[in-house]
Amino acid sequence: MSVDPETYWPTLLHERRLPEAAAADPLARACLDFARPERVVLGHLGQSLDGHVATHSGHSANMTGAANIHHLHRLRALADAVVVGAGTVLHDDPQLTTRLVDGPSPVRVVLDSRRRLGPDYRLFQEGPPTLVLCAADAADGARLGRAEIVPVATADGRVTPAAALEALRARGLERVFVEGGGVTVSRFLFGGSLDILEICVSPLVLGSGRPGLAGPAPERTEDALRLDGCQAIPMGADMLFHQKLRPA
Ligand SMILES: NC(=O)c1ccc[n+]([C@@H]2O[C@H](COP(=O)([O-])OP(=O)(O)OC[C@H]3O[C@@H](n4cnc5c(N)ncnc54)[C@H](OP(=O)(O)O)[C@@H]3O)[C@@H](O)[C@H]2O)c1
Repeated sequence: MSVDPETYWPTLLHERRLPEAAAADPLARACLDFARPERVVLGHLGQSLDGHVATHSGHSANMTGAANIHHLHRLRALADAVVVGAGTVLHDDPQLTTRLVDGPSPVRVVLDSRRRLGPDYRLFQEGPPTLVLCAADAADGARLGRAEIVPVATADGRVTPAAALEALRARGLERVFVEGGGVTVSRFLFGGSLDILEICVSPLVLGSGRPGLAGPAPERTEDALRLDGCQAIPMGADMLFHQKLRPA
């Protein structure tokens, strides 16, 4: 039986535990997986039934319903840092703050290996601190607007998930929420850098569009990444799939 998240949110946020009444609620338990004190990296995507995270033009507003949007804001509030790829900044100009729930906003982090983004996005002009992680030879100065530019190690010219996490940990940012888009969450997943994967599937069919998870193509289904013990948690008309990739 599901419990209104508002009834356990203050205890979860401030005490990193669940009140007795919510101890068996699947969504509350999923949030608790991310609230634990040790290092943890959670990746989340909201996608259509046919596996897209945005239209071809990059529009992704209202991909999932209100319950999942509130869940995203709760994950931000539990996180030390929220990470997005440059493609998400380019298309969404997001704020990545906790406007819908009580709780602090995390440090915002943009992965832009080659520094293709200009300074005019909201992340770089307003709100909580933002870091831009890029290749050392693309760093070109200390600031992008108000954001701090942080050179990190790359492979094939791209910031690696491991180097990104190391740079965040060097700043005491241990609980990391990788919020999108598809390219970025895929790099973290197939790079072995996620502890928890969440996919929220909405009953929406785009036909084609920007892909969600994309990785090495297995020849046979038994070679694919099978998520054993995956929890399916109803969220209104959406379904949240929550998978711990490593034992807690
Ligand atoms: N449904 C969801 O959960 C969700 C969440 C977030 C975003 N989105 C949507 O996903 C889309 C973006 O996702 P994505 O997978 O394409 O990218 P992304 O994961 O946000 O960003 C990944 C990469 O974008 C590349 N990139 C491509 N063109 C770029 C440009 N012109 N300037 C800067 N970087 C550029 C960079 O690659 P290199 O590292 O190779 O340089 C960057 O690291 C947007 O449409 C957004 O609305 C959906």
